[in-house]
Amino acid sequence: MATNHYDLIVIGGGPGGYVAAIRAAQLGLNVACVENEPALGGTCLRVGCIPSKALLEASERYHEVKHGLEEFGVRVAGVELDLPRMLQKKDSVVGALTQGVAHLFKKNKVTRYLGHGRLLAKGRVAVEGEERNELSAKHVLIATGSKPAQLKGVVPDGKRIGTSTDGLSYSEVPRHLVVIGAGYIGLELGSVWRRLGADVTVIEYLDRILPGMDAEIADEAERIFEKQGLKLRLGAAVTGASVEGDTVTVEIDGQAPLSCDRLLVAVGRVPNTEGLGLEAVGIELDPRGRIPVDQHFRTYVEGIYAVGDVIRGPMLAHKASEEGVACVEQIVTGFGHVNYDAIPGIVYTHPEIASVGKTEDELKEHKIPYKKGVFPFIANGRARALGSTEGRVKMLAHAETDRLLGVHVIGPRAGDLIAEAAVAIEFGASSEDVARSVHAHPTLAEAMKEAALAVSGKAVHI
Ligand code: NAI
Repeated sequence: MATNHYDLIVIGGGPGGYVAAIRAAQLGLNVACVENEPALGGTCLRVGCIPSKALLEASERYHEVKHGLEEFGVRVAGVELDLPRMLQKKDSVVGALTQGVAHLFKKNKVTRYLGHGRLLAKGRVAVEGEERNELSAKHVLIATGSKPAQLKGVVPDGKRIGTSTDGLSYSEVPRHLVVIGAGYIGLELGSVWRRLGADVTVIEYLDRILPGMDAEIADEAERIFEKQGLKLRLGAAVTGASVEGDTVTVEIDGQAPLSCDRLLVAVGRVPNTEGLGLEAVGIELDPRGRIPVDQHFRTYVEGIYAVGDVIRGPMLAHKASEEGVACVEQIVTGFGHVNYDAIPGIVYTHPEIASVGKTEDELKEHKIPYKKGVFPFIANGRARALGSTEGRVKMLAHAETDRLLGVHVIGPRAGDLIAEAAVAIEFGASSEDVARSVHAHPTLAEAMKEAALAVSGKAVHI
């Protein structure tokens, strides 16, 4: 077998890998990208961020037309759900985007290999698939992402018990969907099927939802979701599940079992390192199964790098992409950096929940003195006009320097609003900088300005 030589081999074609491959090619490297799946884009594009957003959008529109237009003076009758069409629309969004990545590869002359990439030695990668290839390169970047974590006693059967991938394609609306885990996936997919008419129970081990997000904002989210009809069972540990016919029985520690027709396991994700050949090059995983790297994404082994869900940090597509870019820029130019204090996280429920920087609990834990400004959307003119007044903006700034440390939003379009906060934190802005910047009227963004004003007790509209 002939060995094909490159400057850089990227293993994994998700948001970490494909973005790194394109950026490296733009910087003049001869790049190969090895991806197992026929479609590029990874979990995010194929079975994660994008299809879930397509379903969240579609289900929200359905729910709004059915239940939310009367207050606007719009009477609608005969609204029906066409689930196959909704799923088809989602698939077409995914199809267009994954083909878009293939097009970008061609445009940037990235060579794509279909198959499983395995390290044979430093600088040597085997591609194992229908075709077998052996590649060599000075640099190898591992960006193999993550897969759903399993729960003891709950075995996905691809029919009644499944993961988020299954939850994106149920062929009919479940009668009762039980979700294990009140994190990003559980709440987003729970919301989709609730809006489409399912009874949804979310079982969460902790006594709160959305661990890692600001506790006050998560509390407000909990109240809003319960009002929407999501049943949240907190402080409950699932110990097992069994299927009989179409019914799943979910065992909960110290409580009566629950029965449902669909069970979705969303208890986190674990790094994808199986069959990567790490032992062949002498890379050992950390206690949480991740590949250890330094600040330039270098592993212990010279010439081998890793980014995204396989390394430390939040498992977010945009974090992986930023790391991929920083990694290859560092290789080529000697500079490349990711600011981990300015990575937004967004839950695309309704309302959306978005966060960047430190939470209030983290500031307390690190004994950082802070001031807090809060502004509720009910006092924002645009939110009133939209009929979406739930939620608030919360800004946290250093008590002495006024530097912005964290911004947390629950409310309409929070996922878009948080971009301003991420830029402000990236630029080292103070709350006064945000407060003195002109925000157009009437926009939701004015709630950001008012929260910034509130940090020093100067909010105008509350
Ligand atoms: P997660 O870590 O967000 O939440 C998992 C939840 O399951 C936690 O609240 C945990 O306490 C709970 N849990 C664990 N074991 C349990 C048990 N035995 N019984 C009951 N509850 C249990 O993980 P999730 O939602 O699976 O998402 C995985 C990853 O994917 C996350 O790291 C997230 O960052 C990413 N993601 C991001 C999205 C976004 O950016 N909008 C959307 C979906 C996923």
